[in-house]
Amino acid sequence: MSDLLVVNIGTLATAEGRSARGGAAQGEVRALRDAWVRIEDGVITAVGTGEPPQAPGAARLDAGGRLVTPGLVDAHTHLIFSGWRQHELGLKLRGTPYLEILAQGGGILSTVRATRSASQAELEAKGRRALDEMLRLGTTTCEAKSGYGLDTETELKQLRAIRVLNGSHPVDLVPTFLGAHAVPEEYREDRAGYVRLVCEEMIPAATGEGLAKFCDVFCETGVFSAGETRTILEAGLRHGLRPKIHADEIDAIGGSQLAREVGAVSCEHLIVCPPEGIAAMAAAGTVACLLPATSFYLGAAYAPARAMVDAGVPVALATDFNPGSCPCLNMQLVMSLGCLKYRLTPEEVLTAVTLNGAAAAGLADTVGSLEPGKLGDLVIWEAEDLDYLCYRLGSNLARTVVKRGAVFTNHTEGVMGPEGERNG
Ligand code: NIG
Ligand code: FE
Repeated sequence: MSDLLVVNIGTLATAEGRSARGGAAQGEVRALRDAWVRIEDGVITAVGTGEPPQAPGAARLDAGGRLVTPGLVDAHTHLIFSGWRQHELGLKLRGTPYLEILAQGGGILSTVRATRSASQAELEAKGRRALDEMLRLGTTTCEAKSGYGLDTETELKQLRAIRVLNGSHPVDLVPTFLGAHAVPEEYREDRAGYVRLVCEEMIPAATGEGLAKFCDVFCETGVFSAGETRTILEAGLRHGLRPKIHADEIDAIGGSQLAREVGAVSCEHLIVCPPEGIAAMAAAGTVACLLPATSFYLGAAYAPARAMVDAGVPVALATDFNPGSCPCLNMQLVMSLGCLKYRLTPEEVLTAVTLNGAAAAGLADTVGSLEPGKLGDLVIWEAEDLDYLCYRLGSNLARTVVKRGAVFTNHTEGVMGPEGERNG
């Protein structure tokens, strides 16, 4: 039995509960001064303030008076792919729009070609390196999508890579089937045929092996219409996959309104989400999973996050890590952008990257807050409070990451903490 006592926590900041929090509740974060956390066999058994309990066999981890939060939950990533797309930077600088690069057979489709020709072992190795970096940055749970295969064999290869990594890397993974990420070149003249392939072959194959928990669709101009999105998500539902939607990223073609009709757990992106979409998500309790680093990277507008929170929609923030629109693994950068670009408070942002992210990943009863019964996932930050964590830009302030009670310490020499810092 493993027993860990994290002591000398200056401030322990956590959302509370086992479901997503929207409206005013999104900004209600519990802040315990002079706190401790006990983790037994990977699960939190007690949280308190003042004198920690006598625990003779327990390992002690001294937080040195620093800020502690739950481990970060990155609820939207395209973790598994081959190659990168740095050559698109020049195209972007010349002003070529994202959807035009895709229409020319580049973008997602060029990553599809690379991913089809990679072995599963190669995909696992690349995914593992990404997960190592994410863990160092404070991410302890990560949703991961397929969607760079667009044929049954490669979609399954991606999902099998996710399963292998979930079983062998400390970061927990949540698998999402995204066979409807683009129409592959061989189906360009037969869209209906591709939708049938997704519904009648890929979904049954993926669920037959128990490889996915969610089904996602890129509902976008020139990609999948709202009608096609509904058809695919309903096929997923018949096989036990909960719906997610890439909605209103570039054009608002009805994705967010669909959330209510299909019972989507989350809508993602939502850069151009109309008021009717916000109302539909509020009514359905859909989590809005927003990706501010993608807006930054595409030079696009920012999703109306403030209006969503104010309308009672629970907002999560994630990286969207992928080789095209956001080659970024850093949830700390996402947190800063959440404040600066979405005008969310640090407390709202913390809930967004922990409990609401967990809800978007279907895991709010096991991760996303520091409470007895939840997994022992937390981060000791080189920061004294939440304001500092969101205010600093681009450094890695994660000093020690604890995942299911296992301790991962970063080398933090050279990282500037707050004045009066307690390095050592
Ligand atoms: O979420 N929008 C669709 N898919 C990804 C981008 C994938 C890519 O460009 O490779 C996204 O931004
Ligand atoms: Fe995405």
